[in-house]
Amino acid sequence: MEKRFKIYIYEEGDPPVFHYSSMRGILGMEGILIHHIEISKFRTKDPENAHVYFLPFSVLSIVSYVYIVDSRLWGPMQNTARDYVNLIAGKYPYWNRSLGHDHFMLACHDWGPKISSAVRYLRKNSIRVLCNANTSEKFHPIKDVSMPEIYLPQGTMDGFTGGPSPSKRSILVFFAGGIHGYIRQVLMEHWENKDSDVRIHEYLPKNMSYYGMVRQSKYCICPSGWEVASPRMVEALYMGCVPVLIKDHYAKPFGDVLNWSTFSVDVAVKDIPNLKTILMSIPQRQYLKMQRIGIQARRHFEVNFPPKRYDVFNMILHSIWLRRLNILIHDINET
Ligand SMILES: *[C@@H]1O[C@H](CO)[C@@H](O)[C@H](O)[C@H]1NC(C)=O
Ligand SMILES: *[C@@H]1O[C@H](CO)[C@@H](O)[C@H](O)[C@H]1NC(C)=O
Ligand SMILES: *[C@@H]1O[C@H](CO)[C@@H](O)[C@H](O)[C@H]1NC(C)=O
Ligand SMILES: *[C@@H]1O[C@H](CO)[C@@H](O)[C@H](O)[C@H]1NC(C)=O
Repeated sequence: MEKRFKIYIYEEGDPPVFHYSSMRGILGMEGILIHHIEISKFRTKDPENAHVYFLPFSVLSIVSYVYIVDSRLWGPMQNTARDYVNLIAGKYPYWNRSLGHDHFMLACHDWGPKISSAVRYLRKNSIRVLCNANTSEKFHPIKDVSMPEIYLPQGTMDGFTGGPSPSKRSILVFFAGGIHGYIRQVLMEHWENKDSDVRIHEYLPKNMSYYGMVRQSKYCICPSGWEVASPRMVEALYMGCVPVLIKDHYAKPFGDVLNWSTFSVDVAVKDIPNLKTILMSIPQRQYLKMQRIGIQARRHFEVNFPPKRYDVFNMILHSIWLRRLNILIHDINET
């Protein structure tokens, strides 16, 4: 992939809705990726040479600049995506040639699935790189790409990664966060302030630091909130805490190449009452192994400026490349 992969970015459209998105906040991956793709060595200015075509709109920007707050009107946002696809489909041969199969878009914003779904072939055929990788909302792991949600409070990883060794982690399991969505509600009902080993808080006491708690814990709960994606999964990996995923219908990032069960624990929503028993029954040796593999897997979630080999930017491009290869095989079989 590194030598051959070429991406063409349609030049139509102006910032801030196109070719730009904020790199800050929990949705910052949208802006970071757009920025990195635009200056990437994988970019080609010659569309005839490209393997994939990037539709450079930002869903976060569409929501920020096109959506009228509280209007509940999806139309203008969906039209922005539709008009763009119609524009490039009319001007260049590439969209019609494949009906969008070799095109990709990206969105970390929750509304990515709904906005992209308004454009038929974008939803059906194109590679959608989404944080909100909810298979119940028509996310197709075979053709779409699950992008990790990553929150960097200071905008970079400096000082944000790393944590004490397992022997210095005195808390069995930790979570703190708002009761967004049904999974967290069940979690709070069963565990909030119930057990000194299971530290589940809605509001963290003022004298405790959130990241301090992550660093002192063996396991960190990463439940879905309003949507399936959450920055907690990557925070846990960054800080050496083994992620415990409590999510329905979630396609985990980079599942083609990473075996998540070697460095994380899945707990079904119906098993939340047994959370402590489940974690206590994991042998210490297995915990140590998961923790170690998690630290090794960390580099695949790192955000670097500029990107480095095997980091999150290259992993996402690799996921796109794999899906593009599937299309090629498909075409050859059909002709
Ligand atoms: C692609 O197809 C659309 C819809 O059929 C059509 O309007 C458009 O002109 C086509 N684009 C090109 C470049 O031929
Ligand atoms: C935080 O304050 C509580 C009482 O409000 C106390 O029990 C606890 O030990 C304190 N924790 C730390 C880390 O200082
Ligand atoms: C995933 O999508 C389904 C179907 O829309 C929805 O019921 C569910 O709440 C979503 N899950 C999360 C965690 O958002
Ligand atoms: C992933 O890891 C688990 C736990 O080590 C193992 O049981 C499973 O076979 C692995 N799956 C694949 C596809 O390698």
